[in-house]
Amino acid sequence: MGLPFSPVILAPLAGVSDHPFRRICTQNGADLTYVEMISATAMLYESRRTYEMLKRHDSEQILGVQITGKTADEVGRAVAILDKMNFDTIDINMGCPVNKVVRTGCGSGILRDPQRVYETTKLAKENTGKPLSVKIRLGWDCTTITWPEVLDAAEKGGADWITIHGRLRSDDYAVAVDLEAIAALKRRAKIPVIGNGNILSRGDALYMRERTGVDGLMVSRGALGNPWVFNEIKQGDLLVSIDQWEKMALDHLAWQQEEYGDSGAGAVCMRKHLLWYAKGWPAAKKLREAISHTGNLPDCASLVREFAQDQRAAGATNRLTVWPADTDNRFVWDPKYDMDRQLDRGVGDDGLSQ
Ligand SMILES: Cc1cc2nc3c(=O)[nH]c(=O)nc-3n(C[C@H](O)[C@H](O)[C@H](O)COP(=O)(O)O)c2cc1C
Repeated sequence: MGLPFSPVILAPLAGVSDHPFRRICTQNGADLTYVEMISATAMLYESRRTYEMLKRHDSEQILGVQITGKTADEVGRAVAILDKMNFDTIDINMGCPVNKVVRTGCGSGILRDPQRVYETTKLAKENTGKPLSVKIRLGWDCTTITWPEVLDAAEKGGADWITIHGRLRSDDYAVAVDLEAIAALKRRAKIPVIGNGNILSRGDALYMRERTGVDGLMVSRGALGNPWVFNEIKQGDLLVSIDQWEKMALDHLAWQQEEYGDSGAGAVCMRKHLLWYAKGWPAAKKLREAISHTGNLPDCASLVREFAQDQRAAGATNRLTVWPADTDNRFVWDPKYDMDRQLDRGVGDDGLSQ
């Protein structure tokens, strides 16, 4: 498998990119999706939960996996196992900022040590015949901006492409993505570059492409509650009708139920998605409150149907524009921002629990 031409990719998203959500995004135009970040330590300990996360659904025609590890040797051994599994491409996470992850030397912990980037990439490459990529941030903090050395090290180690999240490890989401730095990385790179960070709409995507010249785009928070974003980026602005919305939410619910059963962790995870899906529709407060009190998926499906009926009755046939025109305001009012912060903090727990 090579990298699809000018791909729009769904990021690996801990606690989010399980196969029901990946299928929803693929159906709506994602060219490549990833399993949520996997801990090499947990893999080598044969953690049951980790192996469950590695499941690929029969309908998934293309799928990547992402690994993080504390040493080159550990990553190399985990990649040797992944190489024999059903994945089309393997990514090494070098950008996760979560304290629990970084403390062990995983995620963005490696950004301060380009030599380890080289050794990790090289050993991983030696252990797989599949395309290998790395996902990085610009650096550790404003005194340790290492992307040039990290890029060179990854290239020397044999990476086939690189994804750059245009922020530092020390930045939170309120910090703007540094498009100039992404453009500079693209100019220096000999391998394809995928741009990531704040692609929440088609406008953001086109702007990133134009300003940086990247070869592809990776969407993260922009897909939460808005899986249509992929086709929007590729085809132009889309009107999402209440019928399309209802079908998508019911498909997602059905796949979730098929995978996890009617209640329990699957239902809790789905609640999070439904709260995101409720965004952009008028009078969604009632739906949000009802979802927050619902413990099982068949009840969620009834709530979705009822909500769609109410929307039709009120004449709201198309979803409103999700984001206000002033992009800076998104972070002030968007309740999703807070949820994302919570989830992002949870990456370590999800990635490293056994
Ligand atoms: C809920 C959540 C989970 C994430 N999990 C991962 C992950 O497993 N692997 C990874 O490389 N990045 C992960 N990230 C980081 C994103 O992929 C992305 O780099 C970051 O959110 C910036 O892109 P954005 O501004 O478009 O959201 C996660 C982000 C969020 C919000």
